[in-house]
Amino acid sequence: MPSSDAYPAIHAPLTLAGRPLKNRIVHASMTTRMQKNGRVTEPLIRYYENRARGGAAMVVSEPLAMLGRQAGDPKVQVRDPEAAAGLARWAAALEAHGALLLAQLQHPGRGRHHPGRTVDAISASALPDALSWTMPHALDASEIAALVAEFAESARRLADLGFAGVEISAGHGHLFHQFLSPASNRRLDAYGGDTERRTRLVRDLVRALKGACGPGFVVGVKLPAEDGVRGGVDGHEAGEIARLVAGTGDVDYVAFVRGAHDRSLEDHLPDRHGPPIPWRAMLAALRPACAGVPLMALGRITDPAEAEGLLAGGEAELVGLGRPLLADPAWLEKARAGRSDEIRYCLSCNSCWGYGTTFGRSLSCVTNPRVARPDEVWFVPPAAERARRIVVVGTGPAGMEAACVAAARGHAVTVLGRGNRIGGRLALAAELPGGESLSSVPDWQASAAARHGVDIRLGVDADVETVAALAPDAVVLATGAEMTSPDWLPPDYAAEGIVPDLGAAMASLHGRRARQGGTAVVYDMDHGEAVYAAVERLAALFDRVVVVTPREAIAMDLFLVARQGVLRRLSRLGVEVVMLVEPVWTDAFETEGRLALEHVYTGARTEIPDVVFLAYATPRRPADGLAAALAARGIPLHRVGDARSPQDLMFATATGHEAGLVV
Ligand SMILES: Cc1cc2nc3c(=O)[nH]c(=O)nc-3n(C[C@H](O)[C@H](O)[C@H](O)COP(=O)(O)O)c2cc1C
Repeated sequence: MPSSDAYPAIHAPLTLAGRPLKNRIVHASMTTRMQKNGRVTEPLIRYYENRARGGAAMVVSEPLAMLGRQAGDPKVQVRDPEAAAGLARWAAALEAHGALLLAQLQHPGRGRHHPGRTVDAISASALPDALSWTMPHALDASEIAALVAEFAESARRLADLGFAGVEISAGHGHLFHQFLSPASNRRLDAYGGDTERRTRLVRDLVRALKGACGPGFVVGVKLPAEDGVRGGVDGHEAGEIARLVAGTGDVDYVAFVRGAHDRSLEDHLPDRHGPPIPWRAMLAALRPACAGVPLMALGRITDPAEAEGLLAGGEAELVGLGRPLLADPAWLEKARAGRSDEIRYCLSCNSCWGYGTTFGRSLSCVTNPRVARPDEVWFVPPAAERARRIVVVGTGPAGMEAACVAAARGHAVTVLGRGNRIGGRLALAAELPGGESLSSVPDWQASAAARHGVDIRLGVDADVETVAALAPDAVVLATGAEMTSPDWLPPDYAAEGIVPDLGAAMASLHGRRARQGGTAVVYDMDHGEAVYAAVERLAALFDRVVVVTPREAIAMDLFLVARQGVLRRLSRLGVEVVMLVEPVWTDAFETEGRLALEHVYTGARTEIPDVVFLAYATPRRPADGLAAALAARGIPLHRVGDARSPQDLMFATATGHEAGLVV
């Protein structure tokens, strides 16, 4: 159904602190890692501007450094006079698109999830951070008052530079949350003891911000809901905190988040293993505590229809979108145009957090290869100078991405796929536990390919003759990768698939429901998410499941929010893990199913009896057998995805996109 009439609740205006919002969509704060030397950069402005251009009415920035003690932090330095011009350009850029820009005000307190401890860790009490065991300095009352004053003074600077307001990040386990939670605040002075005193810092802060910046300066607060910490903020406590903070009369909107800087960190970014809008019931329970202050619903709201439902049903006044607007800044524009099917949906895979927040790379997204580029919003690739004939071999996400972009440029594109569907390895992963959202990648690519007239031929085992017969001007090789056989496995057993790789093994179990006695063993030399999704599936089929790895832990290549989830789920399923071992091939395995294991450091032997299923997940090598033959015929070749270098979905879509633009 075309037009914004399809989403009237999303497009209803609202006023916050006397400022008009043109609709109800807010970009939620996400660390972009796009600042440089404490200054605003052009990519940073473009990232936010693109979300405003795509229609968001209000944009909350990443956390800015607003205190003198944050001068060394990798954040935009509000107190640095040299940063002022950039900050003003940033605010003006958003205003030009009719969006309000709010600065996020945050301090990690004692928290750090990366290795290494913060030198300047501060908190309510001298208690260690749960993840890094950093011991903070407990701020005294005069330091707290000075901190409040400094935040307010910096906010005043931002107001003068054109910012419309601030959002206080008082959830996620950061400094303000540490004051709010009884688990981290054991003070007995004016800032701790009971809920009222634990909220004092935040209440003082909102009052100081309004005092310094005036009633027309928006002050939003992100508060903790259940934080998953023993002795921390539970549902009741969250309600009490909200009642006291909202009751100040100085707060313009409230949002709630789960999780903390603790063993519940994964909760703060609800991922694809859980349901959509997982915080809906929690919001309903906390809403009465907000005393009429507008509520911003947040947390894995990925579809315009979901946002519309929340707003139309009166469950919230605003909808905050973090990852969904990263995945597609034109989310709202496409919905308004009645073209929701063209939205590139967030997969809730959290690769953005892994690469950005953990590894310190610029914010990036598996379904959006153009983050922060000038032409990012509703990207249409430039037409090719001359229409050419392009053959793509492989229907995984890399090949399909290349095909869609090349065809959109006007090329005649044929895709050859061996299987009977598109998606490659990703299609397999989409069938494993937690994989459902992954199917939106091949779904989007299939519909984009259809729009641009891509000719997809399935069930074709393409050899050089098949490809050459199509007389291509260029070939995109997207043939993926295959696992290498592990050293401990006799080569003929690997060659004949008697002990299969995990991908082949899971394909052979496709559709199986009946449970089987005996033990399933997975040799894990991969440590990627798909391995553990397969293990979850095995746990539903076998009496006992054991993961065996030569490393000192499993899931080591996963970023923390994903690793916590993997470890929690496998543990709940009773999956056993044996670390620092390599299997040893013996007759006892073949005749009696007894798998011998050898400790990698000591050589000590143990064994797993009754093994009825054994598969391996190992480093992959490009399945690029066609490359040499095509090159010998002088056909220009572009390798993408795993066929270039076996990596992940981020690499697959990025290299496919890039190839589509250059063929
Ligand atoms: C990469 C990334 C970085 C984030 N950084 C911040 C941050 O700096 N401050 C903050 O309050 N929330 C941060 N968040 C949390 C989001 O604001 C939001 O609460 C969360 O992603 C859930 O919303 P969503 O499902 O719409 O993404 C971050 C989230 C992601 C994915």
